Amino acid sequence: MKLTDEMVSILNQQIIMESEAASFYLYMASWCEVSGHEGASEFFYKQSDEERMHMLKIVHYVNRLGIIADISTIKEPPKDLTSLEEIVKAALENEQKVTKSIHEIITLAEKERDRRTFDFMQWFVKEQIEEEDTVDRILQKFDVIGRDKLAINEIDKYMKSVSDQNSESSTE
Ligand code: FEO
Repeated sequence: MKLTDEMVSILNQQIIMESEAASFYLYMASWCEVSGHEGASEFFYKQSDEERMHMLKIVHYVNRLGIIADISTIKEPPKDLTSLEEIVKAALENEQKVTKSIHEIITLAEKERDRRTFDFMQWFVKEQIEEEDTVDRILQKFDVIGRDKLAINEIDKYMKSVSDQNSESSTE
């Protein structure tokens, strides 16, 4: 079964969204590294790599169906973030946007009875639940631990431990 034009277009939008997420997280990682948040920096470098992997997964999916991915409209990441909390909030908002977009692809796949794309997207549904939960837990730490320098340092360490755990589970 061939993909419809509407499905190709929505999958291309998703490729762009994942690629933009990779750039956004790379900017966040760089901001954190320069600001002395080493744990957070490590966390976002890994997130950026993961987003690139998500993008490639969809690129390969459309390529295998004979379609060249269209990445012509990738935007620069927003660069007006000034604190670790703001960055984590922006990351959560970004993940929520991605989840919504994944669900739109699934809705279209159901409407078109496109079983192949529906099945392919299930991995992303699970991944989004995990990613949103991870970032949400980090954000909660600001209320639980605080926002002074010591608290931020603790949150930074927590982000490093999350990043290390994610690396372990991805190599298991
Ligand atoms: Fe691939 Fe976290 O969105």
